[in-house]
Amino acid sequence: MRWSCADLENPRLLNLEGPTVGPVVLRSPFILAPMAGLTNWPFRRLALSYGAGLTVTEMVSSVALSYRGPKTLGLLKTDPRVEKPFCVQLFGKDPDRLALGARIALEYGADIIDLNLACPARKVVNSGHGAAVLKDFDLAVKLVEAAVGAVPIPVTVKTRPAWAPGWPDILALAPRLAQAGAAAITLHGRYGTQGFTGEADWSWVSRLASAVSIPVFGSGDITEARDAVKLLEKSGAAGVYIGRAARGRPWIFRECLNLWSGLDIPIITPAERLEAAVRHARWLYEEMGPKAAFPLRTVLMWYTRQLPGAAQVRAAICREEQVERQLQILTEAFLKAPEA
Ligand SMILES: Cc1cc2nc3c(=O)[nH]c(=O)nc-3n(C[C@H](O)[C@H](O)[C@H](O)COP(=O)(O)O)c2cc1C
Repeated sequence: MRWSCADLENPRLLNLEGPTVGPVVLRSPFILAPMAGLTNWPFRRLALSYGAGLTVTEMVSSVALSYRGPKTLGLLKTDPRVEKPFCVQLFGKDPDRLALGARIALEYGADIIDLNLACPARKVVNSGHGAAVLKDFDLAVKLVEAAVGAVPIPVTVKTRPAWAPGWPDILALAPRLAQAGAAAITLHGRYGTQGFTGEADWSWVSRLASAVSIPVFGSGDITEARDAVKLLEKSGAAGVYIGRAARGRPWIFRECLNLWSGLDIPIITPAERLEAAVRHARWLYEEMGPKAAFPLRTVLMWYTRQLPGAAQVRAAICREEQVERQLQILTEAFLKAPEA
């Protein structure tokens, strides 16, 4: 059975309502994780169309935002008729600049400001941003206070268990963040120094959820809908972030909703996979025009995963500079697939 709001037989779907972040009610507990360079408006729009409970912009530099450059403001592109609530993720290490960035995000329609204390990228941590802020809990608290003082909307934090093993950890920091006014915390269960290596330790999510009274969201290594529902049900988390697994698989949110509601996971047909890819491409084209061909080399590759001869299809798509041709190649590959 497919998930639909009008499914009158299932009371869990009828009363579908996600967790709350301050006064903001999310649509469901399954959230598209922010991914720099990927979770632009077209991708978020696609995830929402499959039932994502919240989407988050990629991280935006609060300093860059304070200059209001067109490229940075472009990261705040949304459509309030579709993306509600609108969550803007900021990073920064200067409380005043962060406050200014939060005010500008509010001006552009933000309903939630999320503070990134999680990014492990060298460029980011070497300049003292992202996960590196976890080396200085006082600064983390000041940043939250500054953002909370600047805007009348919820401020949340996305972070890691600690900068590195042996460093003061989130269980010590979280009550201070809550005291400073953070409305929720999302935890990716890897240390800052771990980057994306090793495995996400979900026990941190459970421990954090029991340590604070604000909602805690879990992130890390959700590869399929079953993982998401398991983390949600076992950890005490209010919701689950899905990142890499949603690339080329935006219907994972629909799968989560079905499973969470006690329904079967709907089988996605090749025709539906192709339709999702085409919509992704069309929405990217609407934003970028012919330049969309460049990101589409990566994006369309995600959707070829189960196709026979996927490597050749990818190579052919990468050689093309026109979106129309790229989609033609993808469509032909789907039509040739035996199950199509
Ligand atoms: C390419 C990429 C970019 C990311 N960019 C961000 C970001 O801008 N902000 C953030 O908080 N996390 C970012 N993350 C981390 C994800 O939000 C998520 O916490 C992490 O990937 C673990 O979840 P997953 O295993 O479901 O992907 C990024 C991850 C990836 C793979």
